[in-house]
Amino acid sequence: MADLPTIPMDDPDYWQDPYPILREIRDRSRLARTPEGIVAVLRWDDAVDALKGEDFVAEGVEVLERKGFRPGDPMHTWRKNAIGTMEGADHRRVRSLAAAALSKRRMDGLRPLIRRHANALLDAKIEAGELEARLDYALPLPRRVMMDFLGLAADELASSQKPMAGVNIVDCFGPNVTESLRREANAAIQASMDHTARLYARRRESPRDDLLTHLVQARDEHGQLSEGELVTLFSTIFGSGASTASIIASGLLELARRPEQAALLRRDPERWKRGACEETLRYRPAITAVGQKAGSGLRAFDHEFEAGTPISVLLGSANRDAAHWEDPERFDLTRDPRKTSLSFGIGPHVCLGHAMARATVEEALAVFVERCDEIEVLGEARWIPFVMENKLEGLRLRFRGREAGGAST
Ligand code: HEM
Repeated sequence: MADLPTIPMDDPDYWQDPYPILREIRDRSRLARTPEGIVAVLRWDDAVDALKGEDFVAEGVEVLERKGFRPGDPMHTWRKNAIGTMEGADHRRVRSLAAAALSKRRMDGLRPLIRRHANALLDAKIEAGELEARLDYALPLPRRVMMDFLGLAADELASSQKPMAGVNIVDCFGPNVTESLRREANAAIQASMDHTARLYARRRESPRDDLLTHLVQARDEHGQLSEGELVTLFSTIFGSGASTASIIASGLLELARRPEQAALLRRDPERWKRGACEETLRYRPAITAVGQKAGSGLRAFDHEFEAGTPISVLLGSANRDAAHWEDPERFDLTRDPRKTSLSFGIGPHVCLGHAMARATVEEALAVFVERCDEIEVLGEARWIPFVMENKLEGLRLRFRGREAGGAST
């Protein structure tokens, strides 16, 4: 394969602002390489082609094997059962079981509850006029929404979070997987799978009207899921709250940096909250890349690929391709929100939880600006390097607060 430019993902500084570097490479080359040698797809049209599941398909356990995980490792077992690695009839079978529960209509029904949780989190901070936006708001909000949605009791939420505390499984797909991350991820995923099996056992004993019971019955009564698929589906859904948190934190940062756009959202949240969410997704995707592989030997993007060759589809690069987006480096919540980005993927594996994520992010941003005015970022916002899920190191915000009814504090 011809020489391709290398994206300096091994440089910690790259992660602070990858976009000018990606633009410069994208302007002169259709493809690039990661420092590991994986071909990266940079442009919008190519990214859509690579994701739509025809020539390229989802990567399976190979991606983890490249990162040093071996058969028998808990992460390897987990990945083998994950919906994201399935194709064809198996994929449709597992997907359809969760899809109805995650429909847009159902998720829109959660909005009043999302607003109540958002207001309750802000009530605790409003008088202080300052908060750590990730820890105090962006992370707990999706967790509470998930707890209600899955039908977890408070003690079940706490115990479900415990095994994964401090390790983000998504990072095992990222560019810098170390021995200690492998060890921690294997231990965490094993503890989490054991815990999930116990949760299902509880629902078998005392069924409820919740998603866990629905899934366990799909397995036991209709044989629609294997035990491994049952356990993995729960952790995939449960763990996805971290991506929602990433978008909420990024959205708060971008709004704090642009008081005029925060004011627009504050004046008419019903009109602008959708744009605020879609623009944050486009501008700062939570998942920075999706791994695919060539389904057969083929020529694509002016290159020859052997069957099974892995590629990395860089969502953040495609989302800022000037061939598809007008003035892509500008954050602008007034863009038409019907023109969506690639941040939830596209094609057969498009994110199943997009309606939940959108409802949570939209309400989170709207409630925040309704309750908090004159938002100011304290210190410098920095991004954690070498991760797959875009994350701020922290985000301290100061603001002038209002009580839920509108009075300033
Ligand atoms: C802003 C938050 C979120 C973002 C940015 C996001 C992004 C993504 C992306 C990029 C994919 C992979 C698409 C591909 O492989 O082609 C995905 C898949 C998936 N997401 Fe999300 N996600 C978010 C929230 C959620 C939530 C809240 C849930 C569950 C309630 C969820 C459940 C899933 C599932 C089950 C899949 C696998 C779908 C399949 O393979 O068929 N996601 N998501």
